[in-house]
Amino acid sequence: MYLAARGFAAAGIDGAPTAIKKARAKAKRRGLTAQFDVADALNLSMPKQQFDTVIDSGLFHVFSDEDRARFSDSLARVIRLDGTYFLMCFSDQQPGVWGPRRVTQAEIRSVFSDPWRVNYIKASSFEMNEGHAHAWLASISRLARANPNG
Ligand SMILES: C[S@@+](CC[C@H](N)C(=O)[O-])C[C@H]1O[C@@H](n2cnc3c(N)ncnc32)[C@H](O)[C@@H]1O
Repeated sequence: MYLAARGFAAAGIDGAPTAIKKARAKAKRRGLTAQFDVADALNLSMPKQQFDTVIDSGLFHVFSDEDRARFSDSLARVIRLDGTYFLMCFSDQQPGVWGPRRVTQAEIRSVFSDPWRVNYIKASSFEMNEGHAHAWLASISRLARANPNG
């Protein structure tokens, strides 16, 4: 909605129908044309036009190791070559055990290797009702696969 309000063609997905219903209603109230669909981020189908940019706030950190690999394959189908994926996830800097799985910088770099390039990983934070939580904000570009048979 933030990007749609600034003139970008924007689309959002979530696996939860209630989340999509609420997003559609909010967009309608704000007079925005952003499109919202229920979809499985682990199994995205090739869109008519691939996206320049994909933004993930709080999704990657819900996945198991196995699903992280499925997710990066799924993402590669919907993002164009040289397009950028912005990842915001709970970081291993966050103390305690409350909340989602903590993610390390090394894990991000390991999942997003060929055909991806990690441009940067910066310390950031999630603002929540309960305060703040340490996060990583990563910029990751999709490249042509170095080894097409790999
Ligand atoms: C921690 S919430 C983050 C929600 C929102 N992006 C935000 O920043 O507040 C994680 C969201 O991921 C969604 N989700 C989990 N697995 C998913 C999947 N495989 N495909 C699509 N959405 C999924 C959940 O329904 C939930 O809404």
